[in-house]
Amino acid sequence: MRTIVITGGTDGMGAALARHYLAAGERVVVVGRSRAKFDALLADAPGESRFIAADLSLVAESRRVVDLLKTSYERVDALVLAASFIRQRRHLTAEGHEASWSLFFLSKYLFVTGLAGPLGAAGKPVVVNTAVPGARPDAIAFDDLEMAGGFSFRRSNAQQRRANELLGILATDRCPRLAYVTWGPSRLVRTGFAGEVGPGMRVSAAVLGRLLGQPPEKAVQPVIGIIDDPAPGRTSCRGATARPLTTGPHDEEDAARLASAVERTL
Ligand SMILES: NC(=O)c1ccc[n+]([C@@H]2O[C@H](COP(=O)([O-])OP(=O)(O)OC[C@H]3O[C@@H](n4cnc5c(N)ncnc54)[C@H](OP(=O)(O)O)[C@@H]3O)[C@@H](O)[C@H]2O)c1
Repeated sequence: MRTIVITGGTDGMGAALARHYLAAGERVVVVGRSRAKFDALLADAPGESRFIAADLSLVAESRRVVDLLKTSYERVDALVLAASFIRQRRHLTAEGHEASWSLFFLSKYLFVTGLAGPLGAAGKPVVVNTAVPGARPDAIAFDDLEMAGGFSFRRSNAQQRRANELLGILATDRCPRLAYVTWGPSRLVRTGFAGEVGPGMRVSAAVLGRLLGQPPEKAVQPVIGIIDDPAPGRTSCRGATARPLTTGPHDEEDAARLASAVERTL
């Protein structure tokens, strides 16, 4: 039986994956905020599961969950990073971190680096990071990661996507057997789009999602393929289609620079 950890596993694509792997008889650990959503998920997918309630926009909570996972499981076969809460504006958490950066990168950094041991103990370890690949190599403001000097949704989104690609370098340098995939759906997915956004974005997500969105169960089929037959190393995909990795002139250096900048803030 594999152990599959899914952040954001209570809703949307994370929940679709949780349902699939519970039905397949795997052990599924879901991290999210809503126990009620988790209980609803279990109603149609009984199996060996565990819910860990946590607000992953808080560094202390991400650390707590990672420690709990490390002490509970010697081996983690698959880690799916799908927690998402979209904020159009800059917002500080109670810890003083910029909330989007904290949820979409600091938390993922802590999970991927902190679970290196249990992932390394798996036969075919895989991390699927739902950070849409393809952001420009220069998307990171190394001197102002939390964008105190000027935030825009677009820049924040591009920065976390690029940072999550560089995180793959750190992870696979440490464990070359690890499959680290930055993945985004091929097109819009009909999910809850959890977040605090303006009426324009909310209405267009709702309308476009309803008209053009694919159901989460369909959208995650390629992710299931990746988890079940992972290829070691770093790759990028949109849907089932492999995308070339975005490469910049100084990727290894940038990954190390990112890690030290982040460590200083943690
Ligand atoms: N939907 C799309 O069309 C689309 C397109 C491109 C990329 N993506 C990416 O795919 C991933 C999944 O998206 P989705 O649309 O399936 O998500 P979603 O339906 O909005 O669900 C978000 C999940 O994240 C959890 N979550 C939110 N804030 C959290 C927090 N502070 N701490 C812990 N968990 C938290 C929610 O759990 P609780 O409610 O229990 O807190 C829920 O399980 C995201 O990375 C998203 O950016 C989605």
